[in-house]
Amino acid sequence: MVLRLLIVGSAAGGGFPQWNSNDEGSRRARSGDPNALPRSQSSIAVSADGRRWTLFNASPDLRQQINANPQLHPQDGKRHSPLTSVVLTNGDVDHVAGLLTLRESHPLALYATDRVLQVLRENSIFNVLNPNFVERRKLPLDTEFEVSTRDGDGTGLFVEAFAVPGKVALYREDVAAGPDFGTQPEDTIGLKISSGGSSLFYIPGCARMSEDLGERLRGAALVLFDGTLWRDDEMIVAGVGSKTGKRMGHISVSGPDGSIAAFEPLGVKRKVFVHMNNSNPILLADSAERAIAEKAGWEIAFDGMELTL
Ligand code: MLT
Ligand code: MN
Repeated sequence: MVLRLLIVGSAAGGGFPQWNSNDEGSRRARSGDPNALPRSQSSIAVSADGRRWTLFNASPDLRQQINANPQLHPQDGKRHSPLTSVVLTNGDVDHVAGLLTLRESHPLALYATDRVLQVLRENSIFNVLNPNFVERRKLPLDTEFEVSTRDGDGTGLFVEAFAVPGKVALYREDVAAGPDFGTQPEDTIGLKISSGGSSLFYIPGCARMSEDLGERLRGAALVLFDGTLWRDDEMIVAGVGSKTGKRMGHISVSGPDGSIAAFEPLGVKRKVFVHMNNSNPILLADSAERAIAEKAGWEIAFDGMELTL
């Protein structure tokens, strides 16, 4: 079996262009500039058999994302979807709002950590996912399991979830809980996704490279990694926000503590940035920052990009 991966959406929350962004990147993307490709919000799909697909994160752009990718179109009968299962890596809006698109009584298995399942339980709007059709399943940490369909058929795709440095979802921050806003390990996870002896890592949100994480990723064949910001204060410098990357729970791409430097000694064979914020200059194919990232061996994901292992 091969592992087929589709980049469903490659931008961070807000997408590119973001609805209210009038800065250069978003303006170029809106004008059809080929060096500023529009990107939808963060999600990937993976299949072991090319027939049944598991969606990793459900973005607010999901309806358009499904329409844009023939792999995800209905194939059989009057009502059908190749999407059989959904796995969430956190409770952020850009990763859960698309669940609302998946109503209409389609059988799905929905996997998330206890902390993220709690968000779904506490927000009754998610009950539009009819429990007679959508089964919510607790995603264990540090245990590999086979993703299965709602009816319990194995998909041939194996997943291991592990906690990564991160932050609780913005709308769940507890300012009284101290500098980490009440963040718990199950709030942000990375995933090892495997099939038939091939494995990849999907880590769309990560606050820093820890020793543990580095050891896990060492020598990996493929890592999709948090490319939210080029530099920690980029939104402040650009005058478009007041938060640093650190405050948002995202490692920067550049700099001595950045992901390019952190991956340098790890010997990862293929490195792809995902979840890029609209302020990140690596989104622009003709930027100096894009050239630096590519020279360091990184690819910049785009919507519809396909990878096989
Ligand atoms: C993030 O990745 O930091 C969040 O998606 C931000 C947000 O909730 O908009
Ligand atoms: Mn996000």
